[in-house]
Amino acid sequence: MKIHYLIIIALFFVACKADEIEICTDEVALHSLADFPIGVAVSPSELQYNAAYQEIVTTQFNSITPGNAFKPDALQPSEGVFDFEVADSLVAFAMRNNQRIHGHTLLWHNQLPNWMNRFSGDRTAWIKMMKTHIQTVVRHFEGRVKSWDVVNEAFEDNGDFRENIWLEHIGKDYLELAFEFAQKADSTVLLFYNDYNIALKNRKCRAILEHFEGLKSKGIQVDGIGLQLHIFNRIPTNNEIENAVNAIVEAEYLIHFSEIDISMNWTGGSMNLTTNRLERQGRKMKVLTNIFQTIPKKQQFGMTVWGVSDLDSWIPSFFEREDYPLLYDTNYEPKLMYCGFLEGLID
Ligand code: G3I
Repeated sequence: MKIHYLIIIALFFVACKADEIEICTDEVALHSLADFPIGVAVSPSELQYNAAYQEIVTTQFNSITPGNAFKPDALQPSEGVFDFEVADSLVAFAMRNNQRIHGHTLLWHNQLPNWMNRFSGDRTAWIKMMKTHIQTVVRHFEGRVKSWDVVNEAFEDNGDFRENIWLEHIGKDYLELAFEFAQKADSTVLLFYNDYNIALKNRKCRAILEHFEGLKSKGIQVDGIGLQLHIFNRIPTNNEIENAVNAIVEAEYLIHFSEIDISMNWTGGSMNLTTNRLERQGRKMKVLTNIFQTIPKKQQFGMTVWGVSDLDSWIPSFFEREDYPLLYDTNYEPKLMYCGFLEGLID
C-alpha cells in the first residue's frame, strides 16, 4: 500500500516536471516561430518615448492593434472634425516594421466622444452620423489597415443585445448597417466582430453566432470573430475555450485571439507573485497557443496580447487591484508567460 502511494506521488512529480515551463530569453522573436500573425496592442506615446517598449514591439510582433488610438473619441473628437495625426504616425511605424495593422474599433459603447453620446436627431440622422464615422475612418486607412473590429461588445453575457446608444437610437439592425457601411467603404478590408467572455458564456457565444449567421445569410460580409480572452488561469477552462473555438471554426469564420491577458489576482487585494503562480500563467499561455493551432490554417487570423508589459495593462487601474497579466514584467524582462507562448509555438 505504502509503495503504491510512493509510486503515485513520484509519478505526480514527474508529470508536474514534464508540464513545467522552462525559463527562457526573448532572443528569438515570437513571430519568427509562428506561421500565423503574432500581435500586440500598443500605445503610440509608449512607442515614442519608451525605448524598451519600442524594442519589444518591433522585434517580437508582426501585427499591431492600436489599443486606444483608433477609437471614435481619438479619431473624431468633434463632430465632423477627424484627427488622424497620431493614428497615421502609428500606421507609419507599423509599415516601416512590416507589421500588419488590425483596426480597433469602429463602434463601441465606450470611448465615444461626448458629442456622439449627446447626439440628437431621429433614426435617419443617427444612421447618417454612424455611416459618416465608419466610412470616413475606413476610407482614410484603405490599403493600410488589413482588418477592422467593426463592432465591439454588442452582446451581454446572457445573449441579449447590450444597451448602448446605437441600439437605443437605431435599433438592432445597427450591427448589420455597420458591417454594410464598412464593406462599402473598402471592399478589401476584413471585417470582425469582437467580444469578451465568448468562451466563458455559452449563451453569449450562441447568440453572437446566431446573429451573424443571420446577417451572412442576407449577404452581409462578416469575415471573423475576435475572442478577446481577458482570462484567468482556471476561468474559462481549457475545455470551454476549445468548445467556443470549435463552434466558431464550424461557422467558418476567421478567428482572432484578439486581446489576450491572463489575470493572476482572482480575489483582488494584495498578492504574492510566486514562481508557482507565474508558472501556472505560463502554462495557460501555452495551452492557449496550442488551442489556437488546432484551428484550420486558413481560419487562423492571429493571436494578439493586450499590451507589452505588466506596467501597460489596463487591469490594475480598471479593477483597482494588483495584477501581472502580460508577457513582460515591469522591467520589460520576459516572464514565464512569454516562455509558455514560445513553448506553445514550437510544440
Ligand atoms: O487619454 C487620457 C489621458 O489624457 C488622461 O490623462 C488619463 C488619466 O486617467 O486617461 C487617459 O485615458 C485613458 C485611456 O485608456 C488611454 O490611456 C482612460 O482613462 C482609460 O479608461 C482608458 O482605458 C482603456 C479601456 O479600454 C477603456 O475602456 C484601456 O487603455 C484599453 O486597453 C481598454 O481596451 C479595451 C478594448 O478596447 C475592448 N475590450 C476591453 C479592453 C479592456 O477594457
